[in-house]
Parts: sequence; structure tokens; C-alpha cells
Amino acid sequence: MKDSYTQIVNSTLGKKVAGALGLPQPVELRRYEPGQDLLKDQKVLLIGDDASDNLAETLLGWGLEVRRHPEAHTRYGAIIVDFTSAAQPSDLQRPALAVGSALRSLGSSGRVLVLGRDSTSGDTPELVATQAGVVGFMRSLAHEMRKGATCNLLSIAPGTATHSDAVTGPLRFFLSSRSAYVSGQPLTVGSGHAETPSDADHPVEGKVAVVTGAARGIGEAIVRRLSDDGAKILLVDVPGAGEALTKVANSVGGRALQLDITDPKAGQRIAEAAQQHYGRLDIVVHNAGITRDKTLANMDESKWGSVLAVNLASQLAMNRQLLDSGVLGSTPHVVSLASTSGIAGNRGQTNYAASKAGIIGMVSAMAQEFQKAGGTINAVAPGFIETDMTKAMPTVTREVARRLNSLQQGGRPEDVAQAVGFLVSDAAGCINGQTLRVCGQSMVGA
Ligand code: NAI
Repeated sequence: MKDSYTQIVNSTLGKKVAGALGLPQPVELRRYEPGQDLLKDQKVLLIGDDASDNLAETLLGWGLEVRRHPEAHTRYGAIIVDFTSAAQPSDLQRPALAVGSALRSLGSSGRVLVLGRDSTSGDTPELVATQAGVVGFMRSLAHEMRKGATCNLLSIAPGTATHSDAVTGPLRFFLSSRSAYVSGQPLTVGSGHAETPSDADHPVEGKVAVVTGAARGIGEAIVRRLSDDGAKILLVDVPGAGEALTKVANSVGGRALQLDITDPKAGQRIAEAAQQHYGRLDIVVHNAGITRDKTLANMDESKWGSVLAVNLASQLAMNRQLLDSGVLGSTPHVVSLASTSGIAGNRGQTNYAASKAGIIGMVSAMAQEFQKAGGTINAVAPGFIETDMTKAMPTVTREVARRLNSLQQGGRPEDVAQAVGFLVSDAAGCINGQTLRVCGQSMVGA
């Protein structure tokens, strides 16, 4: 749905009025287009010690101009700061203040990428505390971003080099406009096998994907994203949505499967269809979901039961059946749709929040099993997304919800689809069991 306020405050008069009254001034975000430059401004300031030289080489290989020290009269497309060797609180000051001194030179839709070190059991309390400090630094700095800029963190397992494929795939996602609506988020780069796609515009070329709830909304956006990114797609939705499903399937040259995912054999049916049409399955996107909102005092069995059955129990069963079916390729990637309601809770959504929090638990619990199978399982938690669901909200509630994030606007289904597209690519092969929020750094559950 159109965000008229954002359009108005971006007119010459609108800018003046909003500035004078201290009103939110959201900007049009720079969103991905094929063949687009990685950054709006090509200069990158890389703050770090000598160990960052190899990362600088990688950035040069991406066509970026790397600067190792702040320079006057320069506009940066991105600032990358490496805290991976910070082990004492005093190690934070120099790099943090160096970022600060360069912030006014960050261009619109710029990127700040913070690199930290994931903690392990043998770490000293000083190191753990210092690295926890890096997370707090990133989250606060993200709140200070302006003009569509974002700030995110990669927390890297000890022993993993910042220029390795494990890190550069996620780094590229966060730098690119594919992450336009992701800010204030940490991702941990762990073990596993990551590979940089040979063609950045087609990161899932030749892969076979299934997307549930594919007939409309976010599911349809995910189908279009994965198709544009090179995948062949099996589209699943309930028989009642059959006509819309066929239309979307035909538009991307995919295969439609009318199926209720609460069918006890849904996983087997998907495995059989994928086998029949494509010979295997590489990507599973559990997008189908429902809401049946009521305060708990007014909740009945049907509202509670259906939400838990569709949103959570079905996915647990399908994952088990897909793992057992032998249809999964050598690097299977699964992504489930969670929600910020599952993180923060929401009045009238005890059933929905239970199911979405359950998803976050599920991906964490199944990560090891999928890693053994050569792959990953993660979740994406959207915040306020401009869909039919949010269009139906009362105007004032919608307007407040839209502005309650650092980017001061709602996201689009394509923003969620981009995050899904990244997590199902081999570039994200070392990200596992995690939940990535696509919420513009929503204040809800922050
Ligand atoms: P939507 O209601 O527009 O589309 C959901 C699709 O899932 C529909 O096509 C529906 O027919 C299908 N579906 C429902 N039950 C099914 C079943 N038993 N078997 C097969 N297909 C089934 O929803 P929307 O807004 O596109 O949301 C997609 C996902 O994103 C959901 O999991 C939702 O909970 C989640 N989400 C959405 C947010 C938003 O702002 N729209 C925010 C946070 C999470």
C-alpha cells in the first residue's frame, strides 16, 4: 500500500514543514535492481588493524574504493569497523570514535557494518563483556542512522577470517540494497560451508525451491524473488487459493501444488512433487501462516488450534518428512517466517505469538540436524510490512506502527523476500539456527 506521508515529506515543501515541526522524515530507500552498483557511493572506509588488509582486497575485488583512514571532503557508501580482536573494554574506544568522526560523511542509503567476535566457552569475562559491548554499540548506532542508512553486525566465530566466504556473503548482503529494510540486527557467522555465488544477480541459479502460502502477499513476493534470482519453484497453497496460485505459478514458469500444509502427509506430498518435476529439492520456504486474533479471555479451541497447527506443528512435521524423504539436495536451506510478535508479544495474539516464538525455537533446535545434512535452517521475522493485512488496520494505529522504527516507514513484501533469498543461498551457508528481523529496527521487541 502507498505510504503517502513518505511521498509528501520528500517534496520540497514537505521537507521544510516536517523539518520545522520536528516530524519524522522517512526517505525512499534504495532498493535492489539487477546490475545495480553494490553501494550508492563507491568509497568504503574500513577501520581495523593489519588483519583487515585481506578484507580490503575483497572489497577492491567488488569494485569498491577502500580507504583505511577518514579523509576530508569524502562521501562514503559504507563504513566497516572491525572489532574482532577487541578483548578489553578499552579496545572499543578508538574504532568506535573513528566511526563517529566519519559518520557525517556517510551518504544516503549508506551502510555501517560492524564486525565482532562470537564468544565461546573458553573466553575470558573481559572478552565476552567487550564483545557484548559491540552488540550494544551497533544497536545504538543503528538508531542514529539517517537518510535511509542502516547499521548491522556480523558476529564471527573465532578462527574464521573476515575475508573468508563464510563472512563475505553476509557482508555483501548487508552492504547491498537487498537489505534495505534490515537495520540494528546481529547475525552470527558460525561453522558450515558457505560459497560466494559466481553471479551476484542470480545467487540461487539452478536451485529447486518450494514456497508455501505462495498465492499472494509475502509468499508471492518470495516466489518472484527466488525466480528472478535463478531458482525453479514449486508453489504450494490451499485449494481455495488455487486460481491465484496457478496465476503466480504460470508467471514464473513454476509448478503449482494445491495442498493444505496441515495435511499429515504434506511433507511427503511436497517431496513427491519436487522429485517428479525437478528431481530434487534445495530450498524450503515455510511462509504460509494465519492469524486468528482474540484476547485470551475470548480465545476458543478453534482459533488457538488452527493457528498452532498451520503456523508451527505443520512445519515441524514437514521438516521431519523432508529430511527423511531423501529428496533434499546436498546443501538444503530452510527458512521459516516468524514475526516480531513472536519476539515481543502482542495483545490479542497469544496464539499467533506462541506459534511464531515456536518457529524461532524450532530453527534453533533443528540447526545441528540440518548442518549434518549439509545445510541450514533459519527464520525471518518481519515487522510492519505493507500488505493487505496491515492495510486493514485503523488509519491512526497504522500510521503510528509505520513510524515506530529507525527507518520511520513500513517495509515491503520484497524486503522480506530479499532476506529470505539471502538465507536460502549458499552465501549464507555459515548462518544457521538464527532469526533475522526485517523490521527497520522496530522499537517493538528491540
Ligand atoms: P497472507 O494471508 O497474505 O498469505 C498467506 C498465504 O498462506 C495465503 O495465500 C494462504 O492461502 C496461505 N495459507 C494459509 N493457510 C494455509 C495452509 N494451511 N496450507 C497452505 N497454505 C496456507 O499472509 P502474509 O501477510 O503474506 O504473511 C506471510 C507470512 O509472513 C505468514 O507466515 C505471516 O505470519 C508472516 N508475517 C507477516 C507479516 C505482515 O506484516 N504481513 C508480519 C510478520 C509475519
